[in-house]
Amino acid sequence: MAKIKAIRGMNDILPDQTPVWQYLERTVKNVLSAYGYSEVRMPVVEQTSLFKRSIGEVTDIVEKEMYTFDDRNGESLTLRPEGTASCVRAAEEHGLLFNQMQRFWYQGPMFRYERPQKGRYRQFHQVGVETFGMPNADIDAEVIMLSARLWKQLGLLDSVTLQLNTLGSNEARADYKQALVEYLSARKDQLDEDSQRRLETNPLRILDSKDQNTQALLDDAPVLTDYLDEESRQHFSELTQMLDDAGVQYEINPRLVRGLDYYCKTVFEWVTDKLGAQGTVCAGGRYDGLVKQLGGRPTPAVGFAMGVERLILLLETLDLIPQAVKQPFDLYLAAEHKGLQSKVVLYADRLRDRFEGLRVQIHCGGQKNIRQKAQQTGAPIVLLLKETDNQELCGTVWYNGEPIFDLEEGQVQDKIASIWQA
Ligand code: HAM
Repeated sequence: MAKIKAIRGMNDILPDQTPVWQYLERTVKNVLSAYGYSEVRMPVVEQTSLFKRSIGEVTDIVEKEMYTFDDRNGESLTLRPEGTASCVRAAEEHGLLFNQMQRFWYQGPMFRYERPQKGRYRQFHQVGVETFGMPNADIDAEVIMLSARLWKQLGLLDSVTLQLNTLGSNEARADYKQALVEYLSARKDQLDEDSQRRLETNPLRILDSKDQNTQALLDDAPVLTDYLDEESRQHFSELTQMLDDAGVQYEINPRLVRGLDYYCKTVFEWVTDKLGAQGTVCAGGRYDGLVKQLGGRPTPAVGFAMGVERLILLLETLDLIPQAVKQPFDLYLAAEHKGLQSKVVLYADRLRDRFEGLRVQIHCGGQKNIRQKAQQTGAPIVLLLKETDNQELCGTVWYNGEPIFDLEEGQVQDKIASIWQA
């Protein structure tokens, strides 16, 4: 019988990979906690209408990429394709938004029916940040600086570029949209097929087109910057000033519009050229209209989400994962002779009692080539226990491959203490 396999584009994360995920998650959590963000955990399934109303009916995500199904009651549900809509829904439902300032983060799987390729999956993971109740550019600067701090801690700062743009108010964008449609409609036959369709449905997305002819046509098209309202202009200039003061480098990209409908004013993406086509590792912006659109009171908001798989790919490509991260234990403990195994089990626990945080793994199985096997585990500390003629425990400790022979039991622990505390 044919074996059942995982769904295309949905990956198992195996034990050789989980330490890297945990390393990334740990680093992200430390940064988020340094900024006072609180974690929110939302369900992975929501009513379909939540995503239609927030992401937009005529976006790629809603038109083509959602995993939508009817449950047994005939209610239309969708596996979340992103976290912002769910986070707004949860915060509004539990009264966390009105007249409050909030800084939230979440992590977990998201689902999009896209064509799988390197860096693009059907189940992928995001860590997202959403802030509410703060209308000024200071919080836009904060979320961008927070992400920059994370890149710095991961050693990625030189490998990613911040692309920045402002979409202006809804009114400014509507005026611009009209001008763009007029310009492009007169040249419709020169547009690529996708852009011709978008001209009717979502014209701003044409700015994102990868087609060279379309991009050339856009060189002479009206630019959004010329249509910006004064408030958005001011907001953007305050933001860029703060980023300048903080030493965060950016490129202003007037064609950056993002693929979700809820944005206004600031939008940004962190991109890398080291991952091929799927080079955006983190993206977000301001969405002041979304809470109201979903039935709440007007609430300014700004956030971003990063793609965990892409960040891990990038860390691996650049060889930036610290050696120790992949090692699941610090000390490997085995017995030199048969008959000592019960002592090994107990001794391992004594070590765990005495050295808080020391990760000890014991050898279970045959004694053949035991020294060699213990060393092959790659553990920085290896301890082989044996007994003296008087049946007292003693042992040999290896530290980074260098053996320290014939230690009495007390000396063994002292040696481990000196290594562990160093
Ligand atoms: P997004 O640009 O759709 O924005 O996704 C954010 C990030 O998730 C992307 O930059 C990318 O790193 C990762 N990502 C997206 N799709 C895939 C995929 N199929 N496979 C692997 N990684 C992927 C949002 O989701 C917004 N909710 C971000 C946001 C939060 N804006 C404001 N707050």
